Amino acid sequence: MSGNPIDRRRFLGFLGWFASLGTITGISWASVRFMTPNILYEPPKAFKIGRPHDFPEGVNFLPEKRIFVVRNGNTYKVCSAVCTHMGCTPHWVEEKRVWECPCHGSIFDEKGGVVKGPAPDPLPWYEARIASDGRIFIDERRIVPYTQTLTVKT
Ligand code: FES
Repeated sequence: MSGNPIDRRRFLGFLGWFASLGTITGISWASVRFMTPNILYEPPKAFKIGRPHDFPEGVNFLPEKRIFVVRNGNTYKVCSAVCTHMGCTPHWVEEKRVWECPCHGSIFDEKGGVVKGPAPDPLPWYEARIASDGRIFIDERRIVPYTQTLTVKT
């Protein structure tokens, strides 16, 4: 065809170059992606929360950290809010003074001990201390006995 600016041969040539460029781009992207490590960032295990007076008397749930801050006067304890069965979040039932897990029915007493399974282990208590800026510092890597308490001077 004489009036057509792109003849069949040139069109197939363009198509070949386009396919080659697409293949090279795809392989390059896959190579870069392969060289990039897959990293899952976990939240820090040690962190500060509010100042002691920020927490009212009783059991305070901090959903963003999945912990309970238990205040009794000027003493504080920090307990995990992760069920030891499959990781659901138990909730505090003040009338019964227990934590109940909504997923499979585990119940923990106020010391975190298992009252009813299937949870295999008690809720752990974390070390808490006052940081230099006056906030409560929690270290989830340090499991402490229920009897260990943070006492704050008033
Ligand atoms: S996750 Fe709590 S009872 Fe199963």
